[in-house]
Amino acid sequence: DLYNFRLIRPDTKVYGIIGKPVGHSKSPLLFNAAFKSVGLNAVYVHFLVDDVEKFFNTYSSVDFSGCSCTIPHKEAALKCMDEIDSIAKKIGAINNIVRKPDGRLVAFNTDYIGSISGIEDGLRGLNGAIPAGKSPLAGKLFVVLGAGGAGKSLVYGAAQKGARVVCANRTYERAKELADKVGGKAMTLEEVENFHPEEGMILANTTSVGMKPNVDDTPISKQALKHYCLVFDAIYTPKETRLLREAKETGAEVVYGTEMLIRQGFEQYKNFTGLPAPEELFRELMEKHA
Ligand code: ATR
Repeated sequence: DLYNFRLIRPDTKVYGIIGKPVGHSKSPLLFNAAFKSVGLNAVYVHFLVDDVEKFFNTYSSVDFSGCSCTIPHKEAALKCMDEIDSIAKKIGAINNIVRKPDGRLVAFNTDYIGSISGIEDGLRGLNGAIPAGKSPLAGKLFVVLGAGGAGKSLVYGAAQKGARVVCANRTYERAKELADKVGGKAMTLEEVENFHPEEGMILANTTSVGMKPNVDDTPISKQALKHYCLVFDAIYTPKETRLLREAKETGAEVVYGTEMLIRQGFEQYKNFTGLPAPEELFRELMEKHA
């Protein structure tokens, strides 16, 4: 029942996920159920795509309404777009493409919104009422571990929300280059151990340290974690990394990598349809098909 087969008519809107491999993606399951739940005449399919430029050149004459973009096309698809969200452009990766009625392709990066909104909601839970229109990240000291694709998303996302950003990486030069882009501070992973100019900092791990099968590894000592009020890990296999387990034990709020995954989907749905995301439905389906 993946596609929730229904009558596909000439006016049915077509969405899909482009990637290679792509068959494992749960996006069709989520989006088709969501479309059905509100009676949208739309379908969402898997597009196994080898050459992303060829795909967009070919489909520019076909009436598809939008697509999600996954490995290995998140960067290569950039040059096929007519318009790119400013933060997505800085990150250098897109995962959500909407085709406007005039045919123009407009691209977003919902990965960074997924992680940043998860962290913001975690902070709201800790700090109570935050004045409307103000991000709970504003003014916070935000330490990002890692300077790869996911690291960039967190660094640009946090800076945009007014956080004071520190980027720490195994390879210092990469941290420096990234931190300089947002007027932040760079350091090595070792330096993070003794970095606690204040209490109540926020930590986001975007390195692969602690990912299956190396589940006994962690990017920062438990001792150092006591200076953080909230810890996010972009890793979602396992769901609870050693980092998050130890963060909980030291009393910090934690935000799981799975939360980023699901929230990036909410943003895609909103961009595709202009409707609010069926959050409960997405959560139920993700649990059921984990
Ligand atoms: P992603 O797109 O998931 O961010 P990536 O671009 O390959 O993946 O980045 C991986 C990140 O994990 C990098 O910051 C990398 O550090 P380097 O820049 O020094 O390579 C970090 N990383 C990977 N393995 C690591 C390890 N064993 N210890 C510390 N950092 C590690």
